[in-house]
Amino acid sequence: MVDYLTKVILENLRNAFIQLTTTIMNHLSSLYEQLLRLPTSLPGPGYFANQAKEVVFSMKGAVALICTAVSLQSCSSLPSSSSSSSSTSSSQHHDGQHPSELPYYGLSPPFYPTPVANGTSSSRWSSAYQHALALTSQMTLLELQNLTRGFPGPCVGNTGSIDRLSIPPLCFYDGPSGVRGQEFASAFPAGIHLAATWDADLMYRYGRAVGAEYRGKGVNIALGPLAGPLGRVAKGGRNWEGLGSDPYLAGVGMGRIVEGVQGEGVIATAKHFLLNEQEYRRRWGQDAPDGEGHAISANVGDRALREYVWPFMDALRAGAGAVMCGYNRANHSYVCQNSKLLNGILKTELGFEGFVVTDWDAQMSGVASANAGADMVMPRDGFWGEKLIEAVKNGSVAEERLNDMATRVLAAWLYAGQDDGTYPPVGVAPGGELPGPVDVQADHADLIREIGAAGTVLVKNINGTLPLTRPKFLCVYGYDAIVKSTPWENPDRYGGGYDVNRGWTTFNGTLITGGGSGSSTPPYVVSPFEALSHRIRKDRGMLRWDFHSANPSQQYLNADACLVFINAYASEMSDRPALSDTFSDDLVLNIASWCSQTIVIVHSAGIRLVDPWISHPNVTAVLMAGLPGQESGNSLVDILYGDVNPSGRLPYTIAKKESDYGHLLNPSTGQEEEGGDPFFPEDNFVEGLHIDYRFFDRHGIAPRFEFGFGLSYTTFSYSDLQIYVSIAPGVVQETTMPSLAATTRFAEFPDPDTPVIQGGHPDLWETLFVVRCRVENSGGKYEGREVVQLYVGIPALNEGGEDKETPVRQLRGFKRVGPLAPGEDGEAEFELTRRDLSVWDVEMQQWRLRRGKYKIWVGASSRDLRLSGTFDI
Ligand code: BGC
Repeated sequence: MVDYLTKVILENLRNAFIQLTTTIMNHLSSLYEQLLRLPTSLPGPGYFANQAKEVVFSMKGAVALICTAVSLQSCSSLPSSSSSSSSTSSSQHHDGQHPSELPYYGLSPPFYPTPVANGTSSSRWSSAYQHALALTSQMTLLELQNLTRGFPGPCVGNTGSIDRLSIPPLCFYDGPSGVRGQEFASAFPAGIHLAATWDADLMYRYGRAVGAEYRGKGVNIALGPLAGPLGRVAKGGRNWEGLGSDPYLAGVGMGRIVEGVQGEGVIATAKHFLLNEQEYRRRWGQDAPDGEGHAISANVGDRALREYVWPFMDALRAGAGAVMCGYNRANHSYVCQNSKLLNGILKTELGFEGFVVTDWDAQMSGVASANAGADMVMPRDGFWGEKLIEAVKNGSVAEERLNDMATRVLAAWLYAGQDDGTYPPVGVAPGGELPGPVDVQADHADLIREIGAAGTVLVKNINGTLPLTRPKFLCVYGYDAIVKSTPWENPDRYGGGYDVNRGWTTFNGTLITGGGSGSSTPPYVVSPFEALSHRIRKDRGMLRWDFHSANPSQQYLNADACLVFINAYASEMSDRPALSDTFSDDLVLNIASWCSQTIVIVHSAGIRLVDPWISHPNVTAVLMAGLPGQESGNSLVDILYGDVNPSGRLPYTIAKKESDYGHLLNPSTGQEEEGGDPFFPEDNFVEGLHIDYRFFDRHGIAPRFEFGFGLSYTTFSYSDLQIYVSIAPGVVQETTMPSLAATTRFAEFPDPDTPVIQGGHPDLWETLFVVRCRVENSGGKYEGREVVQLYVGIPALNEGGEDKETPVRQLRGFKRVGPLAPGEDGEAEFELTRRDLSVWDVEMQQWRLRRGKYKIWVGASSRDLRLSGTFDI
């Protein structure tokens, strides 16, 4: 009773506080707007207007600070820097001068100072810190700053060295899918392709193999994996580098890759933190009128923000030693100087022990970025170098902060165990032109082939078209069937340099990776045509081809099937012009008009629409073959001929038409808000948690192929859903206790007395429920694997109430089961952690395990739900 009364009193006090602060802020904002309308020339009234503006601005900041101090999320909804006030101000300043950015401050709450890391996460971090501190305590200011910046050198990024303490320069290299731009290094499948395997074990093995290649080349820090962008914008230019448009799927991928990469002793860099969801105006000046103007600001609410943070939690939990902050702004503050994101979320909420490196030339300030939590600038000294030492000497940056930056860098290096004298020497060079390059390929081609096949998604297969059974005669069409016949435009990038690839919808040649820093440079490419040639030889069959015509002639009507290869391109630096192209669509339709067995293979850097031809009766099979890396043709032939039964699933939603993605189709121009200022583009993430399938579910839009969809050559039946409660670590019991909510293990919030470790509050990772079911290969003919998916429906805060902010269903588990022979069955087991079942509570600033009935669905996609159950907390 007393508790209840206290709660009521506190609630009333809180409401009164919100009302009061809102009223004050409203008054301050309107005063501020009036002041902005006064002329600002000096001397005269304008001068005083400026002074007054500063005073009002500081008062607004103070209110916002008090608000943040009492942890009220309502702070961010206060009109401290609303877009309405900003538009009034900035639109009046376009006479050759940059408009003022003052009105935009305060949207991202301040969080200072930067926590000093000390290695409390684990004994391994702790010994890394003891050693690191022993080193940094002997360093001069110059030596400390030497570790916080880049220098020219053989790698994409190179830190300074301190010879007297045996600290070598650290070498950074791109990118997520293998060492780019070097000779004798493998081109692994892109992140999106790996995600399409829905196989946590393959994700780990991928990380391990990529890591081994980095290590072999003497690269200390791999610039990957990537979960930013997450894939909010359907046409996003870099979605393919990441791991699909769902935080849970991407999170598993990030965790497993980091585990693999760091298992090889290489430091993994989780990037780009945070909200770098589009390429258009991703950084200062890019795409701006006359090259002048700020980067797009991703304006996101506190709860939706945690969705984008989610996959980074997994990376951190797995021990990532580095995080890269991006180019864009978030809630108006550049992410590399956004104290809320770096000091607040990354280093406090998630207890990050490693270092934050800026994206290349992403630093926008010296003192601000240092105090907001950035630890290293790349690729040169940016606003730091000598100036950082000066800032420390004059007190603008605390000496403790500089020590912490350098200590974090060294701790990550020591945590990875790179100091033991066995780490290979740097074996990379810009352009890959090294005398006697180090060959690091090992037998990774086998794994690349395996992942290539596992990530291939069969979306249509009628009349038993696939698998091919000893075909004698195949016709091959389309520009994507063969390797590009002309040299690469840029030796560093298979996909084409930024200079040439902007605006491409397709790639003229078989597409195995996208463009930009995440591209790869394969030692060779097995094209689909080459692999088909080898395979057809076995059956003494024959091939005919036309890789060029838009409308190939109907010469070979006796062929068993026509294989049409098309692709969809994407690259860093620009978003995609469209999700399909007319040339390729017409090519498919032209062939399907006379070939009764038309099999379409799409290599795509993300979503590719298929509606112009998907229902054509002559299009009898369709494979979404992603970005499979160097073994492309082999992986594809494994699927076409049924040596591997497809089990890949879409890591995003394929809509029927572009407009079905709504405002999530195009990158934001930054000017959607009325009166928006071209100098300060902003993008309001109004959909909250509803991106990709959650958006389609929320708005009742029928997709062409939903998230999680993919066919097999066999069928699977699902049965026997069991839900167990985990009452203690590793102890499960069958029935849900009615009093569960009363136990500490199931408390609404994680234990406030338990210290946070890297990756977030340890309670968040506790398994609370275990779900099991059985799947049986019911097809009778082919062995196969099934990707079993678990979705959760989280109850509303108030029993029976409506909660429009929470998606109806969210992915919270997946297992690739098998291979299962016909008639054989297997088990899928899912562990649901506290985080999986919680909702970020913006007022309590904590993950909250709601009370009520949780719904569980297990099925073959986000819409093919075969089993369901519930449990109560
Ligand atoms: C990209 C990063 C990359 C860096 C170094 C930047 O343009 O955004 O992802 O790691 O370049 O090449």
